[in-house]
Amino acid sequence: MRKKLVVGNWKMHGNLVENKQLLDALVTDQTELKNAQIAVCVPFPYLHSIKENLRQTNISWGAQNLSQFDKGAYTGEVSASMLKDFGCKYVIVGHSERRALFGETNQVVAEKFIAAQKMGLIPILCVGETLEQREDGLAEKIIEEQLSVVIELAGIDAFDKSVIAYEPVWAIGTGKTASPQQAQEVHASIRKGLRDKNREIADELAILYGGSVKASNATELFVMDDIDGGLIGGASLIASEFISICRAIK
Ligand code: 13P
Repeated sequence: MRKKLVVGNWKMHGNLVENKQLLDALVTDQTELKNAQIAVCVPFPYLHSIKENLRQTNISWGAQNLSQFDKGAYTGEVSASMLKDFGCKYVIVGHSERRALFGETNQVVAEKFIAAQKMGLIPILCVGETLEQREDGLAEKIIEEQLSVVIELAGIDAFDKSVIAYEPVWAIGTGKTASPQQAQEVHASIRKGLRDKNREIADELAILYGGSVKASNATELFVMDDIDGGLIGGASLIASEFISICRAIK
């Protein structure tokens, strides 16, 4: 049985005071959220305080990016072992904002995926198509390409300890969510593609949906067969919204 998971991606938001308020609200609600696997992926500078705030709780944490390199003269980069030092369980790799704004290619994303796993971090691998690609009927092909480079480099067995997030670029931060049917269709096709390579791994793999998930649409998405939870941007910054989304897991 796949466990459902909700991950908040704070992106470049927050400060020490606001973070504490948000986490206090989530932690207070923990008893109610016992059945849900929950994590927050926060900006690097806040990992230390997040570790202090969350270590006695069942909420996990992680980062939003990492270097593909282990260590060395890479000014401004953060390695997988550094994330491990701060108790990270997860790290997002290949978010569309990193692909589009910071030039991350499928190859670099695959290297980051491997670097994360080498240190025992669980990579949350983001894939998804732009509006133009969807309109051209290329969504599945694009996602297959994004995945195949990782499969080639890391091997299918590596997906045993990873999470995939399907995030259609046109749904991120736009308020335009994929319909549950649209999302389910892509999730099922991702799972089918992986199943052809390793059935057991594909059946156990959590595939999250991301893109304008809110309290008001989380349930209808999470009940779909192949949607195993969500990667939440904007709504993860509002305690009441995020808590409701986590509750929708049940
Ligand atoms: P929004 O939930 O703000 O659309 O962002 C989704 C996302 O990019 C999560 O990684």
